[in-house]
Amino acid sequence: MSVLVDVLEGRSVSRRPVWIMRQAGRYLPEYRKLRKRHDFLTLCRTPELAGEVTLQPLRRFPLDAAIVFADLMSPIAALGVGIRFEPGPVVSKPIRTLEQVRQLPDPEEGEIAPEVAETLALVRRELPEDQALLGFAGAPWTLAAYLIEGRGAKGFPRARALAAAEPALLEELLKRLSRLVLRYCRSQVSAGADAVQIFDSWAGLLSLDSWQQLVAPHLEWLLEELERAGIRRILFLQDAPHLVPAFSRLPVDALSVDWREDLATIRRRLGSTPALQGNLDPAVLLAGPEPTQRAARALLQRTPSEGHIVNLGHGILPETPLASVDALLEAVHDEEVLPHERRPTESD
Ligand code: CP3
Repeated sequence: MSVLVDVLEGRSVSRRPVWIMRQAGRYLPEYRKLRKRHDFLTLCRTPELAGEVTLQPLRRFPLDAAIVFADLMSPIAALGVGIRFEPGPVVSKPIRTLEQVRQLPDPEEGEIAPEVAETLALVRRELPEDQALLGFAGAPWTLAAYLIEGRGAKGFPRARALAAAEPALLEELLKRLSRLVLRYCRSQVSAGADAVQIFDSWAGLLSLDSWQQLVAPHLEWLLEELERAGIRRILFLQDAPHLVPAFSRLPVDALSVDWREDLATIRRRLGSTPALQGNLDPAVLLAGPEPTQRAARALLQRTPSEGHIVNLGHGILPETPLASVDALLEAVHDEEVLPHERRPTESD
């Protein structure tokens, strides 16, 4: 069993687990080399290649988890929506009408990005028992934001406008996306994933009030259904400080926050569960190994070790020096976690 799964299940561990969001990708020379020969979609859609890319960071670094190489938009192909990458996802026909939503198919588990399940099964066979395998999916709102906007755009104004103008359309779209994500996660766990991370990268676009009315019921439904299916859940939200208290009340095994948040404060507020994941600023790694090690040590010192999964606050940047990754991992591995250390409770 991996230390990561131990922490997700609330067990004490001898050291904090660590993995890195977007750990398979362009900061690795071996990824860039493979990427020269194949375009991004070919890498994603060919299980042997995707499996190789998934394992690349683990061959180089002592990480506690592999995360399957795919994209946030991988399951969207099953909805018959065309996507290309430039380098972020671009939707050929953005979704703007209720009619378009109603015409979307309702794919079964086996029809949603089957190549991702195949990749997971391949990787599982090669991965040592003590390293966890993570699947992932976009949160319904983050997927909806791309589908409506058509591409990544600062603040996603068209997605926010549509939420204001046509709440019924958004509701229907989120319902369908929640069902899609649930089935997709089930297929990933059946193929060998130990847990899934739900990326709500654009969680923070709406006001608290709009989010509560329009988005929260769907996210909550998804997380509850995942629990009923026995699936371990890590929920990541980004650039959404006004939503952190509300996200903290959602049913998850771990909550992953960006670098703007203070993990120790969240821990004090929440008591001993759920686990918390994060949250070094990915930009700190650009500053080199010494600043990275300093920042990592400070994070470890501030944050109670129980129930903490070390990670960045968002994906690793393509320009990151490999020595900074070494420095981060060294800081985690050098730490002695004292057995008497415990998580503060609400009465502390
Ligand atoms: O190692 C891993 O974490 C697995 C791989 C992974 C990718 N995308 C590969 C990828 C994961 C987990 C994702 C998730 C993803 N994709 C998110 C959520 C996480 C986040 O960053 O908030 C989002 C928003 C996307 C959408 C996306 N895909 C963007 C914005 C881009 C372009 C910018 C970028 O990071 O490159 C992509 C393309 C993409 N997805 C690449 C990779 C390795 C680059 C493709 C290339 O090689 O050119």
